[in-house]
Amino acid sequence: LRDGPLRGRRVIVTSGPTHEPIDPVRYIANRSSGAQGAAIAEALRDLGAEVVFVTGPASAPRPAGVQVIEVETARQMLDAVMAALPADAAVFAAAVADWRVEALSGSKIKKDPGGRPPALALTENPDILRTVSRLEAGRPRLVVGFAAETDDVLANALAKRLRKGCDWIVANDVSPGTGVMGGAENAVTLITAEGAEDWPRASKAEVARRLAARIAERLTQDEAA
Ligand code: C5P
Repeated sequence: LRDGPLRGRRVIVTSGPTHEPIDPVRYIANRSSGAQGAAIAEALRDLGAEVVFVTGPASAPRPAGVQVIEVETARQMLDAVMAALPADAAVFAAAVADWRVEALSGSKIKKDPGGRPPALALTENPDILRTVSRLEAGRPRLVVGFAAETDDVLANALAKRLRKGCDWIVANDVSPGTGVMGGAENAVTLITAEGAEDWPRASKAEVARRLAARIAERLTQDEAA
């Protein structure tokens, strides 16, 4: 572990998409590359933190020098996060699937020639950010969520912070025109209890360094208080 302001601090980072199986060969997924989450893990590591990186099946390379826990589904991600507690801070950058298939088929669903396509009944996945934010015992001191929105980014993110019970929300516009999803850059607004700050559009690495620096500042402030 490196020296730095986060030396001796443990931080959990979730990243990437989740895959929710339909049958042994098919799954529901999303376009998250895991690039922003990986960059955050690296930036926290570079400030000396002990990072537990819980990732779904992401295309982005896994960060070096952190503990990597690979999961597939939202439920596995929740279990991995709970097992990784206690932590000083947690950053939930994963694009967790909101739904999974209610009745997973043990064998490949066959196409019925001339028949009707199967109807998939969905059920809601656990909300990892909300679960951890609302823990009565063992809640990390700082819980950071993301809000990837395509409309009313600020209003939705402000509401999300309160609904989830997290301390900060990193809001970003993932509308197709922005090129954020799968791209190298990000333009975010950091929402805290004090208000909303627009950060300039920058590389995901730069956004990650800025966020890590804020996390370090906040955890050391707590210490001094
Ligand atoms: O509600 P929404 O999915 O937009 O919230 C996004 C935030 O919540 C992200 O920080 C994401 O990692 C987290 N989340 C989660 N578990 C879910 C859904 C979202 O941790 N099931």
